[in-house]
Amino acid sequence: MNIAVLGAQFGDEGKGKIVDLMTPHFSLVARYQGGHNAGHTVYVNGKKFVLHLIPSGILHDGVLCVIGNGVVVDPQALFKEIEELAQLGIDVGDRLLISEKAHLILPYHRELDVLSEARRGERKIGTTSRGIGPAYEDKIGRRGIRVCDLVDTQALADEVRENVSARNRIIKDSTLDWKPVYDQLLAFGARMRRWTGDVSLALDEARRNGRRILIEGAQGAMLDIDHGTYPFVTSSNATIGGACTGLGIPPKAIGGVLGVAKAYLTRVGEGPFPTELSGQMGDRLRETGQEYGASTGRPRRCGWYDAVAVRYAVRINGIDSIALTKLDVLDGLETIDICTEYKVGDRTITEFPSDINMQGPYTPVYESLPGWTAPTKGARDYNQLPPEARRYIARLEEVSGVPVGLISTGSDRAETIIRPGSIVSSWLS
Ligand code: IMP
Repeated sequence: MNIAVLGAQFGDEGKGKIVDLMTPHFSLVARYQGGHNAGHTVYVNGKKFVLHLIPSGILHDGVLCVIGNGVVVDPQALFKEIEELAQLGIDVGDRLLISEKAHLILPYHRELDVLSEARRGERKIGTTSRGIGPAYEDKIGRRGIRVCDLVDTQALADEVRENVSARNRIIKDSTLDWKPVYDQLLAFGARMRRWTGDVSLALDEARRNGRRILIEGAQGAMLDIDHGTYPFVTSSNATIGGACTGLGIPPKAIGGVLGVAKAYLTRVGEGPFPTELSGQMGDRLRETGQEYGASTGRPRRCGWYDAVAVRYAVRINGIDSIALTKLDVLDGLETIDICTEYKVGDRTITEFPSDINMQGPYTPVYESLPGWTAPTKGARDYNQLPPEARRYIARLEEVSGVPVGLISTGSDRAETIIRPGSIVSSWLS
């Protein structure tokens, strides 16, 4: 059965570790959206790997890593990542397949990203400045350049000339010459060719041969272009529909959905965050959880678990089970809060609102649970957890409307609890 792993919050939920530990049960790992704005950190035997574009399955021999048409690919970032992996002793070899239909992020997309943020001023999104938004804008505007377009043709020359002159009109006093951009693109195309192909066909063949596919999302439901806290979102569909469009697979190919959620909540960049903690408790979560962006190093905003948001992510994605990460970060807290609903004035809001940016303020309504003193760090057995931690998890299941099948108690692969009898354990047997 093929399983999708995706973020149930604002990204940075720890999907990299979860995908990494599930990978031995699959033959392929496929990314369906986003680009090198993602940062998936994986620790193996104490060695840290940060993957941005290539699925974290690459750390396992014999696994084919797939980058779908829904991903935007910056060729320079891709080559850099391949080289960095080689330095760490991981040879990508022929274990990478990039969709010919994936769109490219070009150097001027990065410039346009930075410029667009500067123009928004106070209303800036807080993007990762990787050119993600402008690359998707070109895709939807039907002027994007795809991996399969990188051959020496009049059509590519015309497209690049037109795109560069549009960029020159936007960036004041800029006179970028289209020809060096064109030549660079051809060089990128030649270097990428060995890894490119028809992803949809390859995944179909794999399925027909009984090979299992692990589908990997980037960012999270609340950053989804349609369902997130628009406009403070990324430019792709991080939610489950993106897996079908971004890989060219039918919905029936997805047998289960695992939502990854932290035991608290973080967000990087601007945008609404009702349960954000600005004082000492926020700092405590940031320092204990090492909440700094894996891609940009930016400090993450921290707050309590927001069950209104997770319930929404469960509904939109059809999440079967939650992988609850970073439980150990809460070790030693006297009390832990869970937001179960919001209030606007005297109105109670139980469903995540569409207009959360416009209406406000949405004030969280909290339930306070007792914390635990014995450490959960490194626990591998559910019964090893302090009773208060088990009670916290049970309450999260109730208010989020979904069982917790996997609990992560540290950054290493081994620091994980897979609950016996859960759907997650059946997926991995
Ligand atoms: P963009 O994806 O660079 O356009 O950024 C849009 C928003 O998504 C910003 O708030 C970013 O901080 C956020 N974002 C993008 N990628 C990630 C990620 O991998 N983790 C967490 N936040 C992200």
